[in-house]
Amino acid sequence: MRTPLMAGNWKMNKTVGEAVAALKALKPLVADVKDVEVLICPVFTSLYAVSREIENSEIKLGAQNLFWEAKGAFTGEVSPSMVKDAGCSYVIIGHSERRQYFGETDETVNKKTKAAFGAGLIPIVCVGETLKEREENITFKVIEKQIRDGLSGLSGEQASSLVIAYEPVWAIGTGKTATPDQAQEVHAFIRKLYAEIYKEAAESVRILYGGSVNPKNVSDLMKQPDIDGGLVGGASLEADSFSQLVKYLK
Ligand code: PGA
Repeated sequence: MRTPLMAGNWKMNKTVGEAVAALKALKPLVADVKDVEVLICPVFTSLYAVSREIENSEIKLGAQNLFWEAKGAFTGEVSPSMVKDAGCSYVIIGHSERRQYFGETDETVNKKTKAAFGAGLIPIVCVGETLKEREENITFKVIEKQIRDGLSGLSGEQASSLVIAYEPVWAIGTGKTATPDQAQEVHAFIRKLYAEIYKEAAESVRILYGGSVNPKNVSDLMKQPDIDGGLVGGASLEADSFSQLVKYLK
């Protein structure tokens, strides 16, 4: 059984004070949630303060990026063990915004994924096609490359505990959600491909959908057999809407 995961990707939003206040508001709203894992990914500067705020709750903490080296002369970077030390159990890797604006490639995604596991973090690795790629009918080809290259060389245990996020780039922050059928088609493709590479780990790997998930469309997406949760940007910033997403079953 795969436990559903609802992950809030706050991107570059909220000061430390705003982040802590948002968690104070969210905690009571999700206190009774047992069947869904709840994860918040704030900016680096808020991680430690948020980790203190969620200490006695079931809410988990993740970072939005890391660097693969352990320490040293890498000005501006943050290592996997530092992310772990700040209170994180998850880290988002290879988000399309990082691929687009910060030169992230399948090769760097692979290094970061392995380094995250090395520090005891669970990576959430993002894949997805652009609008142009979808229109050119190369969605599956693009995703296959991202998975084969970005996720190569994992152990069986790592392959099972990994989280993949399918985020069609054209659906991120645009209000254009993939239909449940469109999303399911790609999720099923990813799971089948993953089975070719990592055999039975394909049954336990969680595949999240991301791209304009909101309280209205979440339950239809979550009904799909291969959608195991959401990676949510805009709708995760407010405690009210994020708690509605977490409670999609109710
Ligand atoms: P969105 O972002 O929900 O605002 O579309 C999703 C993401 O980029 O993770």
